[in-house]
Amino acid sequence: MSAIILEGTKIAAEIRAEAALAARSLSARGVRPGLAVVLAGDNPASEIYVRGKVKSCQEVGIYSEKHTPGAGVSTQELLALVAGLNARDEIDGILVQLPLPPQIDSKRVLLAVDPAKDVDGFHPLNVGFLSTERPGLVPCTPAGIMELLVRSGIALAGREAVVIGRSFIVGKPMAMLLLNANATVSVCHSKTRDLAEVSRRADILVAAIGRAGMVRREFVRPGATVVDVGMNRVSDEEEFRRLFAGDDRREDSFRTKGSILVGDVHPEVAEVAGAMTPVPGGVGPLTIAMLMANTVKAAGMRRGSGVAELSRV
Ligand code: GUN
Repeated sequence: MSAIILEGTKIAAEIRAEAALAARSLSARGVRPGLAVVLAGDNPASEIYVRGKVKSCQEVGIYSEKHTPGAGVSTQELLALVAGLNARDEIDGILVQLPLPPQIDSKRVLLAVDPAKDVDGFHPLNVGFLSTERPGLVPCTPAGIMELLVRSGIALAGREAVVIGRSFIVGKPMAMLLLNANATVSVCHSKTRDLAEVSRRADILVAAIGRAGMVRREFVRPGATVVDVGMNRVSDEEEFRRLFAGDDRREDSFRTKGSILVGDVHPEVAEVAGAMTPVPGGVGPLTIAMLMANTVKAAGMRRGSGVAELSRV
């Protein structure tokens, strides 16, 4: 069996088109949605992610601005920056790209974002709204995965879902969304005993651990839907060998580029799963698309336009 590939790219384009429509209708009423992105320091991966977010704003018709304090910025300076953005009416969404430099009290900075502009859904108020099933802003990656599952016709009610990873960015909100959709949810983490055995229960398995190729064939029940949140660059020869010995195609690519991009799910899982997201082109584009949807939603909610709900979740 070879898994159906769940094309995140295609569904992300649909979500972006819906967000663009809503942004146009808001702009026609004088409310152009606006997003401020804060990128502190010089993390190369964050720079790439933020570039993608700003570019997507241009395509969707969202005003965007980027703030780039240096790596030596203080918590107080970031708090002042966020307070300034909170106070500006034309800014509907504030995204503080993580991770922040090590000297920063990240929780304090995230707590300072106005919950109505919290397009990441990380503020405790939005976390509380999600867990009590009230309308609010939901973290982009898990919200995007829900869109992918729902729009791909994958049933959730009464089914076993296993989430590997318990971060506040993905694992925890993912579990809550699946629970709200009436799945039976288990959350696994580094202390879970026999991870493969628990994972094998899943009809829907979400891997968000940040370890290249960790989910192997024996983790997956035949026919299960597998969602791969990971995006890991493998440049170490030994790690590459451990994962892909005998794989000539990947060997060529590794030799040419000096590294290879691998999700948390080993590609061999495609032989067992019923459906699976690719890396790249799976969850990544959905995260950015949901940021667009959340920004338009925040503009609609905060500036009172009565725009239709974009998100089903
Ligand atoms: N870093 C990795 N993922 C995310 C995300 O979804 N939002 C923010 N702000 N930072 C991140």
